[in-house]
Amino acid sequence: MKEVILDGKLMTTKAKLHKEMKNKLDLPEYYGNNLDALWDMLTGYVEMPLKIIIINFNVCKKALGDYAEDLLFVFEQVEKELDDFILIVKNELKDDKTRSQDFCDIFYTDRIDTNSVKWDNLKETFGNEDLIPMWVADMDFESPEAVRIALKERINHNVYGYSIVPESYYKAFINWEEIHHSYKIKKEWIRLASGVVPAIYWFINAFTRPNDSIIILLPVYYPFQNAIKNTNRNLVTCELINDNGYYKIDFDEFERSIVENKVKMFIQSSPHNPVGRVWSMEEQDKILKICKDNGVLVISDEIHQDIILNGHKHIPAATVKDGYYADNIITITSASKTFNLAALNTANMIIESPEIRQEYDDYIKTISTSSVNLMGIIATQAAYNYGEEWLSDLLLVLEDNYKLVKESFNEFLPKIVVSPLEGTYLVWIDLREYVDRENIKEFIEDKCGIGVDYGEWFSPLYKGFIRLNIATRTTLVRYAVQNIIDNINK
Ligand SMILES: Cc1ncc(COP(=O)(O)O)c(C=O)c1O
Repeated sequence: MKEVILDGKLMTTKAKLHKEMKNKLDLPEYYGNNLDALWDMLTGYVEMPLKIIIINFNVCKKALGDYAEDLLFVFEQVEKELDDFILIVKNELKDDKTRSQDFCDIFYTDRIDTNSVKWDNLKETFGNEDLIPMWVADMDFESPEAVRIALKERINHNVYGYSIVPESYYKAFINWEEIHHSYKIKKEWIRLASGVVPAIYWFINAFTRPNDSIIILLPVYYPFQNAIKNTNRNLVTCELINDNGYYKIDFDEFERSIVENKVKMFIQSSPHNPVGRVWSMEEQDKILKICKDNGVLVISDEIHQDIILNGHKHIPAATVKDGYYADNIITITSASKTFNLAALNTANMIIESPEIRQEYDDYIKTISTSSVNLMGIIATQAAYNYGEEWLSDLLLVLEDNYKLVKESFNEFLPKIVVSPLEGTYLVWIDLREYVDRENIKEFIEDKCGIGVDYGEWFSPLYKGFIRLNIATRTTLVRYAVQNIIDNINK
């Protein structure tokens, strides 16, 4: 009899269940929080036989909410029915603070000399390799363990020939979107790209012509502007309203600019990098209506969809008003920000409208695109299937780090405006009350020793602002904040 210890956390349990069973039984794969499927799987599994389950109830509770009680009940029934089955329920209740600290201890990793853009490209970008890098949007945390397991399995095979995208990949992505964002996606709507930015270039080329106008809301992720300019389209910008650090859309100005410039396309960041907004239902309804009424195709970049903090909820644009605008929207998303997989070059595009899909498919035939990244597919699938718990701990770290930034500045330099962080791990900070905007670079780099994205990279109006990437261990965030405070107070 083989003894199996399914240790600890729910997602790890699922990963191990999969791994253990894969070669032994042809059981249905368990996706999501579906207890019936879990029950089927377990009853199939216990026959082979299963000996011990160690389950961390509190972790399950976080992941499954009320269903956690049912899950425990299921395991208890199994235990009653089977003599040699041992159920161990671990109830070590970790508070959020401990979980957040544990996450940093376990997953923070030194990235120096790993060809990391963030850590190893400081000299090229800032002319100084000794900065603490808090700029480009990736994290200093290892990806979920399931990603390593899945990639290792593939590496052991050691053949990297042309690959197809398996059904299980689509299943994992569709399942993730439904569970996390209540977005029910059909497989035939999905197309793949090697990144969100390449996908934006494709859509610009497929759906607009040179000199056509494309609108964006500023300040925004600067590759949007580059994509529009590099493809010889006419860049139309509409500035967000800065209400003491909280950013709102100027709907009248947005519509006026669209009409005046005969705009064909709107590219949005939702959630919005760099101002940290998670657009509400009302805001999205208004902006999508303006686009629909004026024949403007919406490209909704939702790469930050899973980094949602402080009680906010991401609403995919295509689900607004029960999908009323979906035929006028192309959504692009990726597991890359969520699980730190950026260099694995995998993004998903969702095109609901059959006409737009056909037009896109016709366009894509005219350019040479490489096949999808084998490792990106494997990592994305593993992360979507088993990364949920890792993500929930990551979000605790980000909330802690944000709180540290906000509260420290509030206490010691109350005129610094730290924008509310509803989504993303990028904090938008207005330093103008304390730092001469013309000297911001010298102040941040030479005095404070950190590398950040500067406000003017996103819009010329934002000189004197910085975007601070807090997806790192709390001690580094503390270091950066303390250096800013000390140097302003000098
Ligand atoms: C809004 C937004 N879109 C796209 C990207 C990059 O996407 P990719 O690396 O898939 O091209 C980023 C990275 O920071 C981003 O913030």
